[in-house]
Amino acid sequence: MPTNESLLDERALSKLKWRCRRGLLENDLLIEKFFAQHETSLTVRQAKGMNDLMELSDNDLLDLLLKRKEPLTLSDNAARDFSSTPEAIDVLALLRPAPQAFAPLTAPPDPTRKKPIMKLADNKATLSFSNGSPSVDLPVYEGSVGPNVVDIRKLYAQTGMFTYDPGFLSTAACQSAITYIDGDKGELLYRGYPIEQLATNCDYLETCHLLLYGELPNGEQKKDFVSRVTNHTMVNEQMQFFLRGFRRDAHPMAIMTGLVGALSAFYHDSTDINNPEHREISAIRLIAKMPTLVAMAYKYTVGQPYIYPKNDLSYAGNFLHMMFATPCEPFKVNPVLERAIDRIFTLHADHEQNASTSTVRLCGSSGTNPFAAIAAGVACLWGPAHGGANEAALNMLGDIQKNGGIEKIGDFIKQVKDKNSGVKLMGFGHRVYKNYDPRAKLMQETCKEVLHEMGLENDPLFKLAMALEKIALEDDYFVSRKLYPNVDFYSGIVQRAIGIPVPLFTAIFALARTVGWIAQLNEMIGDPEYKIGRPRQLFTGSSARDVKPLAQR
Ligand code: SDX
Repeated sequence: MPTNESLLDERALSKLKWRCRRGLLENDLLIEKFFAQHETSLTVRQAKGMNDLMELSDNDLLDLLLKRKEPLTLSDNAARDFSSTPEAIDVLALLRPAPQAFAPLTAPPDPTRKKPIMKLADNKATLSFSNGSPSVDLPVYEGSVGPNVVDIRKLYAQTGMFTYDPGFLSTAACQSAITYIDGDKGELLYRGYPIEQLATNCDYLETCHLLLYGELPNGEQKKDFVSRVTNHTMVNEQMQFFLRGFRRDAHPMAIMTGLVGALSAFYHDSTDINNPEHREISAIRLIAKMPTLVAMAYKYTVGQPYIYPKNDLSYAGNFLHMMFATPCEPFKVNPVLERAIDRIFTLHADHEQNASTSTVRLCGSSGTNPFAAIAAGVACLWGPAHGGANEAALNMLGDIQKNGGIEKIGDFIKQVKDKNSGVKLMGFGHRVYKNYDPRAKLMQETCKEVLHEMGLENDPLFKLAMALEKIALEDDYFVSRKLYPNVDFYSGIVQRAIGIPVPLFTAIFALARTVGWIAQLNEMIGDPEYKIGRPRQLFTGSSARDVKPLAQR
């Protein structure tokens, strides 16, 4: 019979660890730390103390852990208070953080905040005006690679004028060390590593580690990171009730915008965006929960029961399992599809300051809850000019196929060239790439692998896509405008071959891009110089005028 001081056995320890997963940020952090320090020496007595404390509500436990309350002393007629058992009090002392560990919610800038390292270039810009206004010297800064920037932060103060760049075609809104694109060379680097090498030598979670922490993980770090993500894949059971508010035919991106926003409600009171630990666990939670939410959004639309995450599967395998398994029979993950979906995640993980990432940065710059900022990114990505293009590209191929297929491509291209038609070649063109999007090439390869595995080598849409690409790349209209296939052109075909419904494509893009959004958000918050984003405007409306009484209007 084990005594109080004997060590807890493996099974009892794992049961206790699951019981201790509270979902409240602060609780998690403290309990995770406690297990990291004590789990190999946890005694039966200490386990009892932990179980007593787990009888408390989240907030009562949080109050005790953060010393906002002290355990009640047991009195004869007091109801048995679990926090006051001697075992609980002993464990509480181990769980409570050292005083300096928790800064107040308005934490001063944390030491991990890195000052950006842009370098003053040896030349400068001089702005002169033909109307004789005094010229202005503007500093020029250089990064590690890519275009220099003219620093105009003092321009308004020195000239009373703003710059004008509505689509941000020539504006750097921030400095970043995460992703670099050379649009002319068709090059994409995540923390310096070419996407081609990452997509073939690493998996998505290694790429997540790279984007979040700046380096690829070694064996030990990968094991720890994968385990942390795996242990956060479940969502609060309450999340199911949000789904019930949607029609069954709601677009998955409408559902995802709602669900990701709803996550902020579960972690708001314990998420201090200025606390680097909070930022990190929010990142882990978001990366871990997005596949679960996307799969729930899909199951809801097809009226099937939700499938819970399985911790013995890979990140990509778990997603496929949650998407396509049913409670009625075993589901075996196809390794070719598992590798394909993992690569799709990697190819979509981050992409500099694209529209949705800029949305996340601007939204996050107000200090809002990180889950809410990511929800804003989901909403922006939905648009057909951005992440919605993969759905639009597949619908476009379907329409061409319906109207005669490869023979009718010429008629379609004519429509695209006709400015009045409003028809675009979806999946083509890019603000930055003026050469082939390297992701499109990798996506095409993945397409071939999956179509082969699924016996769809003769998939008419894939053949149509390759024929369309060939014609477009030889047609001067596209060549002169440097319009090449982008990541969205082939991604729809491969997702459709995997069995993913077309309306879900962008939700999968959002799943994959979440790590980029949260890495960019954390990089911004970690910059001591960051300010709330607040662009100005060129006002072309009415100057001041008086309101006339109604009778005179
Ligand atoms: C993504 O920013 C990112 O990094 C985004 C992204 C990421 O990973 O986050 O890469 C993901 O959003 C990829 C892009 C997906 N969108 C599409 O595939 C939709 C189709 N593409 C177009 O909407 C367009 O190419 C954009 C929006 C992608 C880029 O538009 P720009 O840079 O504003 O270029 P533009 O609209 O000014 O076009 C320049 C010319 C125009 O012709 P002209 O007026 O000079 O005669 O090219 C034409 C456009 O009409 N043009 C197209 C076209 N894209 C541009 N003509 C036909 N078909 C197209 N797809």
